[in-house]
Amino acid sequence: MTFRIAPSILSADFARLGDEVRAVARAGADLIHFDVMDNHYVPNLTVGPLVCAALRPHTELPIDVHLMVSPVDRLVQDFAKAGANLISFHPEASEHVDRTIGLIKEQGCKAGLVLNPASPLAWLDHTLDKLDFVLLMSVNPGFGGQAFIPSVLPKITEVRKRIASTGKPIWLEVDGGIKGDNIAQVAKAGADTFVAGSAIFGSKDYAATLKDLRARLAVL
Ligand code: DX5
Ligand code: ZN
Repeated sequence: MTFRIAPSILSADFARLGDEVRAVARAGADLIHFDVMDNHYVPNLTVGPLVCAALRPHTELPIDVHLMVSPVDRLVQDFAKAGANLISFHPEASEHVDRTIGLIKEQGCKAGLVLNPASPLAWLDHTLDKLDFVLLMSVNPGFGGQAFIPSVLPKITEVRKRIASTGKPIWLEVDGGIKGDNIAQVAKAGADTFVAGSAIFGSKDYAATLKDLRARLAVL
C-alpha cells in the first residue's frame, strides 16, 4: 500500500502561506490539502481560487482542494484554472452530484466525494466507479484542531471493501484529527491518504513530524 500525507494549510500561518507550503514540501509532504469554507455550508470562511493560484508557483506537489461550499459547481472551473489537481466536494452541498463529478473530470482534475461522519455510505452507491478518491471526514467539517471521531473507523473499513470490489485504484483519504497516536489505526482500518493540519503545522519541526507519521505507517 502506498501511503500519502497531505498537510492541511488550514493550520498554517496564512500571512506566510508560500513559505509554509514550501516548508512542508521540503519536509516530505505528498499533497497540499487546501480547505475552502464559505460560511454557508460550514460556519467558517477561508480562502478561494485567488489564493490557490497564488500558491501554485510555490510547489510542484498536487493541490488537493476540499470544497466545503454550497453551491459547488461554479467554483470547480475557477479552482481548476487556479491550478488545483484534485477537487472534492460534499454531496449534500451539490444539486446534481453526478454532474459535479463530471465537471471536475472535464477540467482535468481528479474527482473526490466527501462524506461527513454522519453521512451515509449510500452516497457511493451510484458514484464510486466514477470517483478518483473518497474523502471520509473524521471530524465535522469547519475547523482544524478537532478530535478524531472513532466511529468513523468501521466506516473506513467498509469504504475500503467497496473500493476493492470496484477493482479500481480509488484513493481513500481521511481528514480530521489525525495525529501520531492514531494514524496507524486509521491506516489499518483502510485509509491510504491522511490529511493532517494541526498535527503538522502546530509542530515546531515539520520534517520531524512527517518523519514520525511515516514511521508509524512503515511498521504496518
Ligand atoms: C476540517 C478540514 C480539515 C482540517 C484538518 O473541516 O477539512 O482538513 O483542516 O485539521 P486537523 O488535522 O487539525 O483536524
Ligand atoms: Zn479538509
